[in-house]
Amino acid sequence: MEILVLYYSRNGATAGMAQLIARGIETVAGCQARIRTVPPVSTVCEATEDDIPAEGPPYASLEDLDECAGLALGSPTRFGNMAAPMKYFIDSTSNLWLGGKLAGKPAAVFTSTSSMHGGQETTLISMMLPLLHHGMLITGLPYSETELLTTTSGGTPYGPSHTAGTDSKRPLSDEEKLLCGALGKRLATISMALHAHD
Ligand SMILES: Cc1cc2nc3c(=O)[nH]c(=O)nc-3n(C[C@H](O)[C@H](O)[C@H](O)COP(=O)(O)O)c2cc1C
Repeated sequence: MEILVLYYSRNGATAGMAQLIARGIETVAGCQARIRTVPPVSTVCEATEDDIPAEGPPYASLEDLDECAGLALGSPTRFGNMAAPMKYFIDSTSNLWLGGKLAGKPAAVFTSTSSMHGGQETTLISMMLPLLHHGMLITGLPYSETELLTTTSGGTPYGPSHTAGTDSKRPLSDEEKLLCGALGKRLATISMALHAHD
């Protein structure tokens, strides 16, 4: 069973979270992570990016979304919201929406910001909105993940988060790492349970 970990990252912070979430997914027997990214968007609207990125995971296709058993969606925070390249990709999913292809699949969200109070929760909640329109089943993190109570960096019940600092170079804290792994594991466990009832 494959869970799609789909993210955009400019400076690597959200990419690092994606890797940890993928590792969490793969702690659940029978579950595999499929990691995908999206290209940046250009101010020249006709501009197109190569089909294969120079480095990192491949660009996501609509088939990746159609085929996955669950979705972890990640984006850096941009002015308290998800980054345009991720929104642009999501805006291309109308046919999946029309066909109800994502309805009933579990989904979760994650983000990275520069500053502690720079809008992690608003970004996470706004990323949930299009997924709810698709009929996806949103999960966050329960406080039984006790790092939620002790973290002095990122980590929210709405999904894992990271406070990367103004230069975006601060490494993930132990709590942030553990919460990424916990989210991946939770998503994979829910996907397996739902699949058992197919
Ligand atoms: C246009 C723009 C807007 C941003 N808006 C915010 C913001 O609202 N709050 C914040 O804390 N950081 C903001 N940032 C910083 C990024 O969220 C932060 O550097 C993030 O960790 C980058 O993730 P990445 O390394 O995956 O690209 C912004 C950065 C850019 C370029």
